[in-house]
Amino acid sequence: MNHRTVVVIGAGTMGSGIGGVAAVAGFSVQLVDRPTVHGPSRSRIERFLEGQVKRGRLGASEQAGALRRISWREEIGRIDGVDLVLEAVVEDLGAKAELFSALDRGFSGLVATNTSSLSVSALAEFAPDPSRFLGLHFFNPPERMALVEVVSGAKTSKETLAAGQNFVRQIGKEAACTRDSPGFIVNRVARPIYLEALRLVGDKVASVESLDRLVEGLGFPLGPFRLMDLIGIDVNLAVSESVYRQLGQEPRLRPHPLQRKMVAERRLGRKSGEGFYTYA
Ligand code: NAI
Repeated sequence: MNHRTVVVIGAGTMGSGIGGVAAVAGFSVQLVDRPTVHGPSRSRIERFLEGQVKRGRLGASEQAGALRRISWREEIGRIDGVDLVLEAVVEDLGAKAELFSALDRGFSGLVATNTSSLSVSALAEFAPDPSRFLGLHFFNPPERMALVEVVSGAKTSKETLAAGQNFVRQIGKEAACTRDSPGFIVNRVARPIYLEALRLVGDKVASVESLDRLVEGLGFPLGPFRLMDLIGIDVNLAVSESVYRQLGQEPRLRPHPLQRKMVAERRLGRKSGEGFYTYA
């Protein structure tokens, strides 16, 4: 990538995390979201950069340089000269499709989606050129998680796949390539764990705390409830619904009523201050 400019649409949990990492790697980053989100997004990135300085991974001038390379805006604006447009908005096909449809049809860079579960091939059809479209599925928190699933859609070209892998490497991450399939690899494997844990708690077999402690005792860094709180209960529900729908509504993949109840009550996990646990 020559110009080294990335537009990240959606400055929530994932967009801000990815934006901060890309800025540290030297990319100019434009984060697009509602103005009310700009402040929290900036604070998250400042905290990340501060942490990098404390750990000796960044000097003060690199910290300032990374922050200078990031801008926040409400509209996408002109994207000529941009290398990559990466979308990290709500997990909803309609919302993502609308956003890709609005991109300049003459755009010659790459377009990527951070979707956790939706069809990359289906989303590609709304982009200016499906051959220059791919999935770049980061994990939460993007500042810390090394792996990125690099997902090829039906029309993703070899050059696009190579450029996507290159971008992942340039920002210091490791690419794991996969073909388009509901939930890709990680969300497909993890889905039954979340849902079985929810059923066990819903059936009063175990408490949230004891189940987390037991699973963490097996060697998982976070139990399923702590992990759902980190991901966002709303995001996890949307992914559960999407995988359930796409894999033929198998009963074992049916979303749990507790997920819907918590979303209705806005108990969304860490980002709202309360989920399965309470956060200060
Ligand atoms: P989030 O809810 O934290 O942030 C989404 C942001 O998108 C919000 O700030 C919202 O204002 C913004 N947004 C919505 N529509 C927009 C539009 N048209 N233009 C600009 N901004 C818009 O969600 P999160 O967790 O960052 O998830 C985003 C995407 O990343 C989803 O597709 C999700 O499945 C995926 N993902 C989430 C992970 C997680 O653990 N939370 C992990 C990996 C992928």
